[in-house]
Amino acid sequence: EGKKLWGGRFKESTDELVEKFTESVSYDKRLAPFDIAGSIAHVKMLEKQGILKKEEAEKIIEGLNEILEEIERGSFEWKTELEDVHMNVEKRLTEKIGSVGGKLHTGRSRNDQVATDVRLYVRHEIEEILKLLEKLRKAFVKQAEENLDVVMPGYTHLQIAQPVLYAHHMLAYYHMFKRDAERFKDTLKRVNISPLGSAALAGTSYPLDREFTAKLLGFTDVTRNSMDAVSDRDFIAETIFNCAMVMMHLSRLSEELVLWSTEEFGFIELPDAFCTGSSIMPQKKNPDVSELTRGKTGRVYGDLMAILTILKGLPLTYNRDLQEDKEPLFDAIDTVKLALKVNAKIVGGMKPRKERMKEQAKKGFSLATDVADYLAKKGVPFREAHRIVGELVAYCLNKGKSLENLTLEEFKQFSDKFNEDVLSLMSVEGSVNSRNIIGGTAKEQVLSEIRKIKEEEGF
Ligand code: ARG
Repeated sequence: EGKKLWGGRFKESTDELVEKFTESVSYDKRLAPFDIAGSIAHVKMLEKQGILKKEEAEKIIEGLNEILEEIERGSFEWKTELEDVHMNVEKRLTEKIGSVGGKLHTGRSRNDQVATDVRLYVRHEIEEILKLLEKLRKAFVKQAEENLDVVMPGYTHLQIAQPVLYAHHMLAYYHMFKRDAERFKDTLKRVNISPLGSAALAGTSYPLDREFTAKLLGFTDVTRNSMDAVSDRDFIAETIFNCAMVMMHLSRLSEELVLWSTEEFGFIELPDAFCTGSSIMPQKKNPDVSELTRGKTGRVYGDLMAILTILKGLPLTYNRDLQEDKEPLFDAIDTVKLALKVNAKIVGGMKPRKERMKEQAKKGFSLATDVADYLAKKGVPFREAHRIVGELVAYCLNKGKSLENLTLEEFKQFSDKFNEDVLSLMSVEGSVNSRNIIGGTAKEQVLSEIRKIKEEEGF
C-alpha cells in the first residue's frame, strides 16, 4: 500500500511536498484515452511477437478497456501520489487483474509512452482545430458573398487610403486562416510518427515490432533515433506556435471589430448575443468577446515562450523538465479552440452598415490616387501627377471642399490635362471597380475569388 511503482530501491517514502511538486496527474489525466489506446496497441504487438501469451494480452486489454469506462463514467479515482496518468492507469490495472498487469510495461518506458500519448493527443486536437478553422473561413466567405455591394474605406496607418469592397476585406481574413490551416497540416506530418519502442532512451532488447504498433495507432512512420524520440518536443513548440499565429490573426480581427463597432466608426452591428452590457451605464453594448480574444492572444504567446524556454537548456535525453510541456500545450489548444468557436459566430452574425461605410469611403480624399492615375494615363509623369493632386488636396483643405464637389474649372487651374471625364471618375464604386487586377478589389475580381475559394474548399 502506498508503495510507488518505482519504489524498489527507496527506503524512505516521498515527502508530501515533493509529491505535490512533481505530480502531473491533475492535468495530464486528459491524456488517458490516448494512453490506453497506446497501451492496447503495445500489448497486441507483444502478443504477436510471442512476448505475451494470448490469455495475458486479453486480460490486460480487457482491464484497460474497463479502466477507460471508469474514467469516462467519472468513477476512476485519480491519485496524486501516483504522479501521472500513466502510473494511475497501470496501478489500477494490477489492482483489477493482478500481477499479470505488470507485464504491460514490458519493453516500454514512460519516456516513449508519454511521447506517444502527447503525439496522439496533438494529432486529435489538430484535426479539431482544422475543422474550426474551416468553419471560420466559411463565415468570412458568407459575409463577402452576402455583402458584395458594400464599399468601405480601406486604411493604411489607420488613415483613410482608398475605397475597397467590404467583401475584399473579409476575404483578406479568409486567406490568413487558410494559411493557418496549411501550417497545422504541415505540422501534422511531424506529429504523426511513433516513438514507441524507443523505451527509456536507448531502444530495447525485446524483439518489438515498432511498425506494427505504429500502424495500429495510425502513425505514418516510426522515429529513427531513440534518443531524439524521447526528448523531441519540437512538434509541441510548433503546435503552440501555430496556435499563437491563429490568435494573432484573431486578435487583429478583434481590434478591427472593436473599432468598427464604435460610435465613431459605426461600420458594423455586432450580434447582441456576443456582446455584454455595463452594470452602471444602461446604454452600453460592449464588444467584450473581441477584447478578450485580443487579451487571450497574450496568454498563448506566453505558452509559446514557456515551451521554448523549457526546451532550451535540456541535454539529451529525457529530463523531468519535459513534464512542463503539457500545461502550455493544453492551454494554447483550449484557448485557440474556444476563440475560433466564438469568433466564427461573431463573423457569421455581424452586420455591415452599408450607408455609413460608403459615406466614410468618400472621406479623406480617398479618390486622390485615382485622380493622379488619371493624369498619368494622359501622359503626365506619375511623380508630377502626384504633386499636382497634392496641391489640389491642399486647395480643397483650404476651401473646406472635397474632390468630388470641385468644378471642372477648378480642376483646370491645376492642370490643363483635366477634362470633363474627371468628374465622372469621382465615385467610390468607380474607383473600386477600376482596380480590376488579380488580387484587386474590383467586384469582378472579388467575385471570381469567391468562386475560386468555393471550388477549392467545396463550400
Ligand atoms: N509525467 C512524465 C512527463 O510528463 C512522464 C514521464 C516520466 N518519466 C520519468 N522518467 N520520470 O514527462
